[in-house]
Amino acid sequence: MTMLQPVNDDRNTFAVARATDAYLIPGRIKETALEFGFDEKSAWEIEIAASELVDNVIRYAGTGTVAVERIHAPRSGLRLIVDDDGPGIENIDLALIDGFSQGVFTVHDGRRIRHSLGVGLGAVHRLMSAMTIVNKPEGGLRVTADKWLREDKPKP
Ligand SMILES: Nc1ncnc2c1ncn2[C@@H]1O[C@H](COP(=O)(O)OP(=O)(O)OP(=O)(O)O)[C@@H](O)[C@H]1O
Ligand SMILES: [Mg+2]
Repeated sequence: MTMLQPVNDDRNTFAVARATDAYLIPGRIKETALEFGFDEKSAWEIEIAASELVDNVIRYAGTGTVAVERIHAPRSGLRLIVDDDGPGIENIDLALIDGFSQGVFTVHDGRRIRHSLGVGLGAVHRLMSAMTIVNKPEGGLRVTADKWLREDKPKP
């Protein structure tokens, strides 16, 4: 059984609690993006961005929430709001640079094995139209990422 019910109606908010949420929730968000009028490619880009953000919540905070809502300003589009109560990010500017993060390592037989590339937030930045990351005063991280229905110019 899946717990993938929005926890409120006017803004679909999904609880992130387990590893399978990293693809189940983005799948639902892609459906929402298509309902909002995004084409298949843009909806897929939103799905990938959501999966990177949910993956980070699971990996670094354990649990959190993902809200998806329609926005009308500064442009029409879709907004993802991803919240957790984890440690936050000490240097947000550095965390956005691809490859800065050392990713997650485990040690086997004295060798460090790398499990991630440190490109998740950079990918979200490129796939979405606008993005903000804040350490919440009460603790934890909030990532807000918007995608506009019409970009000024196509992204590379
Ligand atoms: N929700 C979060 N809470 C705390 N720290 C975070 C969170 N999300 C990201 N970070 C920090 O920012 C760094 C960069 O995140 P990013 O998603 O870009 O890379 P990654 O998770 O290390 O690797 P990848 O996403 O490529 O598997 C992480 O290594 C982690 O230190
Ligand atoms: Mg990541």
